[in-house]
Amino acid sequence: MKWGTVVGHSPAFEMFHVKHQSCFNGSMAADKNTTHPTLIVRPLGPSDLERHAAIMGNPEVVRYLYEEPLSSAEAEVHLSRRFASGPLEQGEWRNFAVDVNDRLIGEVGFTLKSVLHREAEVGYFFDPSSSGHGYATAAVALMVDWCFSELKAHRVVGRLDARNVRSASLLARLGFLAEGTFRENEFVKGEWTDELVYAVLEHEWAEVQPQLTLPLAMFHVKPEAPVFD
Ligand SMILES: CC(C)(COP(=O)(O)OP(=O)(O)OC[C@H]1O[C@@H](n2cnc3c(N)ncnc32)[C@H](O)[C@@H]1OP(=O)(O)O)[C@@H](O)C(=O)NCCC(=O)NCCS
Repeated sequence: MKWGTVVGHSPAFEMFHVKHQSCFNGSMAADKNTTHPTLIVRPLGPSDLERHAAIMGNPEVVRYLYEEPLSSAEAEVHLSRRFASGPLEQGEWRNFAVDVNDRLIGEVGFTLKSVLHREAEVGYFFDPSSSGHGYATAAVALMVDWCFSELKAHRVVGRLDARNVRSASLLARLGFLAEGTFRENEFVKGEWTDELVYAVLEHEWAEVQPQLTLPLAMFHVKPEAPVFD
């Protein structure tokens, strides 16, 4: 089943189109006259390999992910799987690069968990050297906002290892509520792990939409063919 079935866009609708900063209140467009960094969410490409490998090769980054630190060869395969375009199937992920001042600092993505229930899930990882400035929060906020505004999701979830305090803080910062803990429901890296589920609903997002202060611009993939059919 295609995502377009749910959201009801016309066949010609392009899921990914260049969309400058209309996500958040006021002037979020990159302002060349300030010293603020410019954050851009854009498609991933082959030229991202070096940075992708550096980030996903870092044990600190993958500590609470399913992956072990990736070698360069593994990173190349991992990255190439993230170039998917075309119609989005339920369960498939779409991932994007996050640049700050033209440097890849992390990645955000979403998956369509359920067409029937209009539920999306977001995922993300960032270079620890870029931590502490709100970049990840801002990029995930854009992804979440996009899930609501463009995909017409009713509910967006984040699932995380219960020990992943920074990820939990990020979601809480964006108004996600902790809904529950699945006890030892995953076996990751040789141990049973608890998983937390956080979620934000469509009407809640409209109310708690964060007042982000970073200048942002969001660029989506422009596909060869319409995504929805
Ligand atoms: C989860 C992860 C993305 C969180 O990164 P982060 O650096 O904490 O997030 P941000 O870049 O948004 O920075 C937040 C910090 O910047 C601060 N900050 C500064 N300016 C800010 C602003 N304008 N807006 C929001 N936060 C701001 C926040 O207060 C926060 O500080 P704190 O850490 O002292 O609380 C990161 O730890 C990561 O990539 N981990 C590895 C991969 C992973 O586990 N992914 C999640 C799987 S579920």
